[in-house]
Amino acid sequence: MAIIIDDTCRVFTLQTKNSTYQMKADAQDVLLHTYYGEKTDNSDKSLLFYQADRGFSGNPYELGKIDRTYSLDSLSQEYSSFGTGDYRITSLRVQNGDGSQAAQLRYTGYCVQKGKYGIVGMPAVYADDGEAQTLVIRLEDSCSGMEVELYYGVLDELDVITRAVKITNQGTQDIVLKKAASMNLDWEYGDFQWISFYGRHGMEMNFQREGIHHGIQAIGSVRGSSSHQYNPFVILCEKGADEKMGSCYGFTFVYSGEFLIEAEKDQIDRTRLICGIHPDNFSWTLHGGDTFWVPEVIMTHSGNGIGKVSRNLHKAIRKHICRGEWKDRQRPVLINNWEATYFTFTGEKLIAIAKEAKRLGIELFVLDDGWYGKREDDSTGLGDWFPNEEKLGCTLKELAERIVAEGMQFGIWLEPEGISEDSDLYRCHPDWAVGIPGRKPCLSRGQLILDFSRKDVQDFIIERLSELLGGIPVTYVKWDCNRAICDKFSGMLDAGRQGEFSHRYVLGLYRVLEKLTETFPGILFESCGGGGGRFDAGMLYYMPQIWGSDTTDAIERLSIQYGASFGYPVSAMGTHVSTVPNHQTGRVTPLSTRGCMAMAGTFGYELDISRLTPEEKTEIKKQISTFKKYYNLIQRGDYYRIFSPLEGTCTVWEIADPSGGEALLSAVYHHVQANPVPVRVKVQGLKDEAGYQLFLTEDFKEKYPGKRLPYGFGPGEVISGAALRQFGLVIPEAVNGFQAWQIYVKECPYPSTHPK
Ligand code: DGJ
Repeated sequence: MAIIIDDTCRVFTLQTKNSTYQMKADAQDVLLHTYYGEKTDNSDKSLLFYQADRGFSGNPYELGKIDRTYSLDSLSQEYSSFGTGDYRITSLRVQNGDGSQAAQLRYTGYCVQKGKYGIVGMPAVYADDGEAQTLVIRLEDSCSGMEVELYYGVLDELDVITRAVKITNQGTQDIVLKKAASMNLDWEYGDFQWISFYGRHGMEMNFQREGIHHGIQAIGSVRGSSSHQYNPFVILCEKGADEKMGSCYGFTFVYSGEFLIEAEKDQIDRTRLICGIHPDNFSWTLHGGDTFWVPEVIMTHSGNGIGKVSRNLHKAIRKHICRGEWKDRQRPVLINNWEATYFTFTGEKLIAIAKEAKRLGIELFVLDDGWYGKREDDSTGLGDWFPNEEKLGCTLKELAERIVAEGMQFGIWLEPEGISEDSDLYRCHPDWAVGIPGRKPCLSRGQLILDFSRKDVQDFIIERLSELLGGIPVTYVKWDCNRAICDKFSGMLDAGRQGEFSHRYVLGLYRVLEKLTETFPGILFESCGGGGGRFDAGMLYYMPQIWGSDTTDAIERLSIQYGASFGYPVSAMGTHVSTVPNHQTGRVTPLSTRGCMAMAGTFGYELDISRLTPEEKTEIKKQISTFKKYYNLIQRGDYYRIFSPLEGTCTVWEIADPSGGEALLSAVYHHVQANPVPVRVKVQGLKDEAGYQLFLTEDFKEKYPGKRLPYGFGPGEVISGAALRQFGLVIPEAVNGFQAWQIYVKECPYPSTHPK
């Protein structure tokens, strides 16, 4: 039983395999948060609370004259509200019919449901009934009649608890939501650090770890989407925690729009973390009877370091967020023509790329931007999703059929949310572009954005794309979005409801994606936001992979993919081998290094394959066969970060089969030194008692001319799992700049001469 309720003491305990979460409705009917952390018993942890009169931290009226130690400003609460005595950051801020901004949430009841709750129209973790349970706790503000239902999904095997909130106006006067968070988490102590991921276009997911200090720390987005700048995901950990040790929490927001994750260390050193919709561009009017769902957060705790938090989240996303046929199906190795041609191509050139790609073992050809409307550069054509037959030299259907006839699958790029001023769509429907009447809109990449909050716009896109995709043999779609949103305004919303625009946009996008993925279940959708501008669990609910960054440089990708690995599985990370010198950085790296980096993701190519030397083509064939050979291990294994790209000389990561029978180690020298210190790797996830052999993968076998490989790589040498874990193996030295190695570790019987 994952949900244990003590009805007498009104204590709610959620037990997962290795963690415990607890709340209690106290004598004042305030729902207290009493514990989240390492697994413990079901006893009431509020008995361990310490309360004192904090002066200037007021007391609820009923207690004000008898107990000055009871204050909402210092108690650990489960869902805090603004305006009634909690002066910290709060989860909920409302404006009532009389203009007051106050809510007093009090416990009114609970129910337990079989299985995991869902949220209509929004992404959320899903699970079989046997895998999850739901707890719903009801709170109410009796003055306004607002009901707040806190939803908890408990996936005990995975150590995952999800939270979402449903707010209903049971009163008669309008209530305006001004801030609505999905979760509030209070800790009775405050010596934490948090890890967040910041970035920019082309350089997403930079790792940042800082102490939680007095005051408020926050990351978020007001850009319409989750953004390149901050990822909607954080880790909170004990000060000394590392990859393998210490108490750590992960929080992933299952939402693709504007978000805010804030932490505050308060006057008595307690910590509060809040995650929800960003309040800057948000307000939502609830008439009597109306309901609002605040999106979901996935939470996990590990007592064994940050690495385990990541592995829990990887599993949750892979198995309980990603859906559809492609969730578990082997994804094709693709070639995308973007960096090969940009906008300048003909149908014949595309077919030449596809033919050559086929010879090398590539399975899917993706036609990127520039195939439609009058699109010769990025200033025109967005919105006109009709093929430019003059440029292609044939119809799109004919092109796709010719590519399919070559034995390749066909995929296509779209940017359905974009609209160029110079497009037929804009000339027909200028009001469909987001902008404030009477003001000039801000352009970004020279383009505007379609008002996806409007149902007529959503319907138009569904219809146009259904017709387009239904008419060609297509098995893959790259869904791009190349600008952030400002000038927020919708012609379909009343003045008083313009604050609903941003969230309605995201709901509209989700509706379109739901319809299209339902209509075309066989199509593999890949999300893209000019690279990682919308890399979040919300998008992964509709599309199981996301193009990680417009930077394809293998060395820059090390840190982008390192950052992403904290919260997202390898199967979600879109990665390609591109040409050298790299188009974004000018850096030259070996093809084998680019291959190794791209194999820490969905794997594909994005370069003019017809210009490669015969040696490079042979190497690509080897890479593809290596990727396919280890596909299951790479995409479904347990991921371990061994050495970071942010320090030292060599980035190392490992993917181990959960059985402990095999592992693949990848190492890239991001900094090459003379007379180098050996890079020793303690291999994880193996069985101590079993024997293992080490092999270099195909592409790396001949990459060590004239040097002796370190101990353990010799033919027939068998090393115990314990030795590999405790003593480790040495990564072969680098003989070239940015050299990589891939080492396959395979369980094998000990030779008969092995000492017993
Ligand atoms: C941005 C994407 O991230 C690129 O891969 C490419 O598809 C361009 N858009 C095309 O405009």
